Amino acid sequence: MPSLDLADVQGFVKSGYTSLGYARYLMYAFGNGSAGSAFLSTLLPAVTRADQRNVSIVTQVALTSSGLAGLGLNQDQLALFSQEFTAGMTTPARSHFLGDIDDHDPSRWSWGGPRNPQIDVLVLCFAATSTELDEHTSGIDAAADRLGLTTAARLDTQQWSETEPFGFRDGISQPFIAELSSASATRPTADTAVELGEFLLGYPNAYGNLTDRPVLPAAADPGHVLPSVDPSTNRAANTADLGRNGTYLVFRSLRQDVAGFRAYLDQAAGATGSDAASVAAKFVGRWAGGAPLALSPDGDRAELSLANDFGYAQEDPDGVGCPLGAHVRRANPRDFIDGQAQHNSVTNRHRLLRRGRKFGTGSDGMEAVGLHFIALNANLSRQYEFVQHSWINNPKFNGLYDDIDPISGVRADGATSFTVQGRPIRTRYRDLPAFVTTEGGAYFFLPGLQALAFLAGLATTAPQT
Ligand code: HEM
Repeated sequence: MPSLDLADVQGFVKSGYTSLGYARYLMYAFGNGSAGSAFLSTLLPAVTRADQRNVSIVTQVALTSSGLAGLGLNQDQLALFSQEFTAGMTTPARSHFLGDIDDHDPSRWSWGGPRNPQIDVLVLCFAATSTELDEHTSGIDAAADRLGLTTAARLDTQQWSETEPFGFRDGISQPFIAELSSASATRPTADTAVELGEFLLGYPNAYGNLTDRPVLPAAADPGHVLPSVDPSTNRAANTADLGRNGTYLVFRSLRQDVAGFRAYLDQAAGATGSDAASVAAKFVGRWAGGAPLALSPDGDRAELSLANDFGYAQEDPDGVGCPLGAHVRRANPRDFIDGQAQHNSVTNRHRLLRRGRKFGTGSDGMEAVGLHFIALNANLSRQYEFVQHSWINNPKFNGLYDDIDPISGVRADGATSFTVQGRPIRTRYRDLPAFVTTEGGAYFFLPGLQALAFLAGLATTAPQT
């Protein structure tokens, strides 16, 4: 097992920095490689590392495939990254696969789509106060401006709070990764812990292997800026590990129709003799306060608001508490899927580290609100894309036959129902409108610190291949 060097990992892998209430995401196009390199060099000293504690300003840097190319990686080197990343989120095949069709089509997006400006680099900024955030991002904007970069998108967030716009406590369930957890963290049942290599390249993943990552010939890094490949991995020792301590970052801006959600709930509750809060809880799989329906089917319970060490096989195999198609049960079916108990290690191959924040106040009823969904994972295909396509958007998930994820599912093949299993009879909610619309998105690579330094120097060191 290669030892983990937290000083080479961007802090976002370890923390969502929720103690810093304010965040802004800046995206730029480089224009030319040397401007990109100079920009990265300017940012580099400020990039927050995972070994830093009690920080009050955070800067994280991620790049798109076009950004890496702009910095000077050649086609052969780019091909070492995952194919989903290099092709990008908006190819027609991928849009279909992810459900980015009709109202969600990238041609309608406000950023990241084919009609929007090219994005090369993403700078994620976090601060304790809005004034500090403004000062910090003004400095980054000024540097970008001075170097001739163009702004591609600028995404504000709402001050962090634990509640997402539909009114549910969010950010509760995250994969437990022993190497990234504090000593005081509560360890879940042993088989729910997830391998570090599922979220960080260069470490063993759920299969005991190293997830594919970009490793360059040593000659490409004459200055020895990159870490060398750990000899214990049995790969050639004279290589420069561009991927190690990096990960892939999925970014999707998801607008939420809060008024539509509430109106549907009121009407559905009236029609079924229930109440809106209970119907909403069935959609999500947790009560608004956070308690999981699998553990607390009849009402919210404050003492369970952060409960996460549970499964469905013993607690709720029939979906009578938490419906089989509820959002959290699709996004992470835990130990029970398609009518069968599963070892957690099976579903743990498809976990996501969620790092999103909400946007918009909706204060005047006009402003859009939603979630800047951000997730980290080492394997885009097996993790994010699988969850989105095969679980969330799959009408036949978990033995259902034309149901959707009522929270974030895209209405595939005309499916618009949601079934609540029950005794003596189930309840079906029909004609669910889309409560969430995708409005932007892109795949990024979040490199390790040494990799960032290497990329910053590419345009000036003229590497050999
Ligand atoms: C605007 C859209 C969305 C909303 C409002 C939303 C809301 C929520 C809420 C309230 C929870 C429960 C709290 C928690 O466990 O942290 C949750 C859990 C989760 N969501 Fe979402 N979500 C959205 C989109 C997505 C998408 C697009 C994905 C993945 C493709 C996703 C993946 C997950 C996962 C993995 C969990 C944890 C499930 C578990 O481990 O039990 N969510 N979401």
